[in-house]
Amino acid sequence: MNEIPTPRPILRPFRETDYDDLYEFLSQLRDDEFEGYPGIMYDNGRRHLDERVGSESYYAMELRSSGKVIGNIDCGRRDFEARELGYIVNKDDQRRGYALEALSAVMGQAFRSGAHRLYAQCDPRNTASWKLLEAAGLRREAHFRRNLYFRKDGTGAPVWKGTYVYAILEHEPIPVPLFPHDQQQETEVLRHEARD
Ligand SMILES: CC(C)(COP(=O)(O)OP(=O)(O)OC[C@H]1O[C@@H](n2cnc3c(N)ncnc32)[C@H](O)[C@@H]1OP(=O)(O)O)[C@@H](O)C(=O)NCCC(=O)NCCS
Repeated sequence: MNEIPTPRPILRPFRETDYDDLYEFLSQLRDDEFEGYPGIMYDNGRRHLDERVGSESYYAMELRSSGKVIGNIDCGRRDFEARELGYIVNKDDQRRGYALEALSAVMGQAFRSGAHRLYAQCDPRNTASWKLLEAAGLRREAHFRRNLYFRKDGTGAPVWKGTYVYAILEHEPIPVPLFPHDQQQETEVLRHEARD
């Protein structure tokens, strides 16, 4: 995996030295309803770094200004030339446009390297997640109702959750995010070559 050039967060492979930064943003989600890392503690969380170092799918988002890794984008290979997208940004750095900038760059790179379809799944109540996907040009393709559960309640009954599926195909435009996030600029449209 190579670094992807972006204006603000550098997108690069994870390194062994990234554990403190990774732990900081994963542990913020320890009890998160949508992207939970239940029970994660400093001493038992290193497997999440092991999963990322040397991986072809995880990009660390490193801030140019401080060198801190403030999140990650996941772009895992799936059947039929698809990639599944995932994303986390440290709570202290959210709503600055970092996820949108990084996700758009990873999406462009995925299409340039032969992906046909990019998709993501999220809980319909995770507004930040699906609004991010819409901002990045993905369209809602499905709303599965009460299709899965991650835990059971006190009586042993499944706590059902729904799922949105968002996707974009290779010939569809990825909107270029505004940069810097708080400045008004014309939104350009980045087009990638269609592959028939
Ligand atoms: C989803 C997440 C990665 C967004 O990161 P971020 O860096 O704050 O997102 P950005 O600043 O790039 O936001 C881009 C757009 O997404 C939407 N968005 C992001 N956060 C939002 C929120 N809390 N509420 C509503 N819309 C939101 C907005 O449209 C936003 O554009 P705007 O700021 O111009 O309104 C972040 O909230 C996060 O890490 N959440 C926890 C992990 C998670 O749920 N991952 C997804 C699991 S499916």
